[in-house]
Amino acid sequence: MTNALVLGFCAIISLIVAPCSISAQPTRAFFVFGDSLVDSGNNDFLATTARADAPPYGIDFPSHRPTGRFSNGLNIPDLISLELGLEPTLPYLSPLLVGEQLLNGANFASAGIGILNDTGIQFLNIIHIYKQLKLFQEYQLRLSAHIGPEGARNLVNRALVLITLGGNDFVNNYYLVPYSARSRQFSLPDYVRYLISEYRKVLRRLYDLGTRRVLVTGTGPMGCVPAELAMRSRTGDCDVELQRAAALFNPQLVEMLNALNEEVGSQVFIAANAYRMHMDFVSNPRAYGFVTSKIACCGQGPYNGIGLCTPASNLCPNRDLYAFWDPFHPSEKANRIIVQQILRGTTEYMHPMNLTTIMDLDSMT
Ligand SMILES: *[C@@H]1O[C@H](CO)[C@@H](O)[C@H](O)[C@H]1NC(C)=O
Ligand SMILES: *[C@@H]1O[C@H](CO)[C@@H](O)[C@H](O)[C@H]1NC(C)=O
Repeated sequence: MTNALVLGFCAIISLIVAPCSISAQPTRAFFVFGDSLVDSGNNDFLATTARADAPPYGIDFPSHRPTGRFSNGLNIPDLISLELGLEPTLPYLSPLLVGEQLLNGANFASAGIGILNDTGIQFLNIIHIYKQLKLFQEYQLRLSAHIGPEGARNLVNRALVLITLGGNDFVNNYYLVPYSARSRQFSLPDYVRYLISEYRKVLRRLYDLGTRRVLVTGTGPMGCVPAELAMRSRTGDCDVELQRAAALFNPQLVEMLNALNEEVGSQVFIAANAYRMHMDFVSNPRAYGFVTSKIACCGQGPYNGIGLCTPASNLCPNRDLYAFWDPFHPSEKANRIIVQQILRGTTEYMHPMNLTTIMDLDSMT
């Protein structure tokens, strides 16, 4: 009733003044870059060991089948699409991403990758970040062929972008083995400064490729994930060294995004404080309906944190009671909490503003 009234009202107004944002809300493309936290299945098309293509991955997905997402169900990009009423975004390597589907955007993320080219080399054939950016260029050519160069440019300018990088540069590079090459080359503070300077180049390139609304997540509390509790913690407390890495990286990331925004003269880059978003339920799991934030639902060994989640692993009966699905990745339930903060969080969670505010602003222009 109210909606019908608003729409009717809108239609009348728009005849006189301008197109109405409610009746004429055009859909918006969504592009995703990064690692396993946001990979929706690209690695299934590659010869890599970093894959989520066997049960019980996907056990709570609508199809109840593995899809390449590192989740029991939906991942963060899925939930953002759902909340914003966007069409789901397909993995770039999916053969289904053709024709009209191109208009919805694409997901270029690949599990195992990092900011640095040498992060994740142990996973063999994965799509490193510069390769993701190259595929994004290729995508734009394909889109141009479909809707013309101007239409393509507009679609990319108006799109929402999510990029999640950095965690693997610590857990799958600097801290992968004792005396790793990177840890012999750099002290931790110097390594973090180097990562930030390299990340800045990646983001600048993303801007030069036409994106204008980019959500950038920092790293979560890496020392608190079940894998690190199992490998590095004797007491069950979060590993101090990895927590120090996150504490150095995240504030410098926010500073770098501020500087980039100043450089381009607009609030293009939005920092999502993934550390805070995770820490809320990691430090007080019961307040969020979890029985534990230390033990993974799927895995083996202490905290179910050793090795991978496979058909032979322990599996909890109710995934919603676990903050962590596998040794590294949040459950769908935890992803929902994170996405709520991305949408509606205060400036402590989303800087300089949350996604609801962004969508409101962008719908006015
Ligand atoms: C990483 O690889 C890309 C493309 O292959 C290259 O342009 C870039 O300079 C490399 N980064 C570093 C730090 O070597
Ligand atoms: C975030 O979003 C909500 C709307 O859901 C808004 O009321 C709130 O003021 C926003 N917070 C900030 C800090 O932008």
